[in-house]
Amino acid sequence: MDVGAIVTVWNPTADDPPSKDVQELAAHWSPSSVLDVGCGTGRNLAPFDRPGCALYGFDRDLDAVKVARSRFERHKGDAISIWQADLRTYEAEQTFDLVLCYGVLHFLLRLERLQAYAKLKSWVAPGGLISVVMFNAVTPIPDDLRSLMPEAPSDSQEILTAFEEWSIIRHRSYTYEDSHNAGTTRHTHSIDRLQARKPTEAPT
Ligand SMILES: C[S@@+](CC[C@H](N)C(=O)[O-])C[C@H]1O[C@@H](n2cnc3c(N)ncnc32)[C@H](O)[C@@H]1O
Repeated sequence: MDVGAIVTVWNPTADDPPSKDVQELAAHWSPSSVLDVGCGTGRNLAPFDRPGCALYGFDRDLDAVKVARSRFERHKGDAISIWQADLRTYEAEQTFDLVLCYGVLHFLLRLERLQAYAKLKSWVAPGGLISVVMFNAVTPIPDDLRSLMPEAPSDSQEILTAFEEWSIIRHRSYTYEDSHNAGTTRHTHSIDRLQARKPTEAPT
């Protein structure tokens, strides 16, 4: 996977607004810790930058990590740590009330992604939440992105199966039009947005 190419199509900026569903979570819940996996420039940590919450994020791309760090130079949260790491190799020692993973998993190969689901699940504290957004190939992955997402999930079944023993708070699967490179590149994407709660006790 070419991370430089991902950054080129994604065009991150420090001004990107947080995802609406992250804003909604932050409006209705006060987790004490949030981990953003593949945090990019940190837009989705911003709504939780408040007293009582510790912020954590990592991304494979060092430039994005630097932007995210500078975004939170004067953070209000209890603690903050943003570092460079690859989801495929990183192991976390602690758990978090909320784990976010937006726009990352579709870049992984299928087997890598199945391992990543297990990791992400292990990083959520009992009773905590995960919120995941990723493309699927219900609408074929656009030609210019296919080399970046050679094994995107064929449909929603994969993520629903990965979280089948959790309670699904929200799941939406839909198609939308997107544009990149100042509107010069247009894409149709199909996407899954899933929020799920980890059981407080392991199923017997
Ligand atoms: C589309 S951007 C989304 C960034 C951020 N989650 C957001 O919603 O603004 C995808 C991000 O995933 C990161 N990424 C891709 N593969 C990764 C991996 N294996 N481990 C960690 N980060 C990865 C990229 O560097 C990029 O910052």
